[in-house]
Amino acid sequence: MSHAKLPAGLDRKEAEIYLGLNPDRLPKHIAIIMDGNGRWARRRHLPRIAGHRAGVAAVRSTVETAARIGIPALTLYAFSEENWKKRPRTEVNFLMRLLQRYLRQELPTLNRNNIRLEYIGRERELAPEVQERMQWAREATADNTGMVLTLALNYSARSELVDAFNSLVQAAARNGGIKHLQVDEDAISRHLYTRHLPDPDMVVRTSGEMRLSNFLLWQLAYAEIFVTETLWPDFRGSHLLGAIAEYQKRERRYGGLNDLAGEAGRVAER
Ligand code: IPE
Ligand code: IPE
Ligand code: MG
Repeated sequence: MSHAKLPAGLDRKEAEIYLGLNPDRLPKHIAIIMDGNGRWARRRHLPRIAGHRAGVAAVRSTVETAARIGIPALTLYAFSEENWKKRPRTEVNFLMRLLQRYLRQELPTLNRNNIRLEYIGRERELAPEVQERMQWAREATADNTGMVLTLALNYSARSELVDAFNSLVQAAARNGGIKHLQVDEDAISRHLYTRHLPDPDMVVRTSGEMRLSNFLLWQLAYAEIFVTETLWPDFRGSHLLGAIAEYQKRERRYGGLNDLAGEAGRVAER
């Protein structure tokens, strides 16, 4: 284990956890389901939107810490297609305004940390002024070469797969017809919204819920799952580092056998 040096900008608590990590085995892509804003607000007898507003500080801290320690890609589930369809208009509108404000306010921080912004989800269903702001922020960070921060907005994994299959068929139709269309895993991956990203190594869900809620169903096939009781507005960079510490204790097998299992097998044969 080599500790070259402590990344700049970590607070004391973060530095303490970071020193226990193996910097050579950091996840390359972390995905987070940011959940629990409503419960955070309810515990304080506040309206749900107060929880969403408080969630912005959690985003800021998590994003900056991830960038500082050199995580190549972070994807945040901010808003699902189901949220858009099933929540009261007032809450949806509030979230849209919050997003626009976030993009405007955080741009200097993103640029200072060399972060490039991307999106996944059905962008075109969002209001034109929201799309414009999103495009503006994407272009303003397009030359950054550090961490890729992907926001999932109006995102649904099943819609993503539907869109990918349609896009595959259309591409084939343009290139000589679908009669000879041969689909493989790479072809599907290349047509997903996440084509700019490797599959996540770890998915984090806050607020204790044990489900994926239609998030990255294809891409999370072998991701390590980390669920914390912490509600999203209380989540900080130190919690992210704690999740990475847990990740580094896990043993990833991808369906194969590890050394220990081999050893146990040999013992059993004797
Ligand atoms: C997550 O918090 C944010 C969004 C889904 C937009 P919730 O709003 O789902 O909070 P809970 O689950 O009701 O506590
Ligand atoms: C998942 O949270 C979506 C986001 C965090 C954006 P939800 O609160 O919408 O998920 P369910 O309804 O508990 O499954
Ligand atoms: Mg929720």
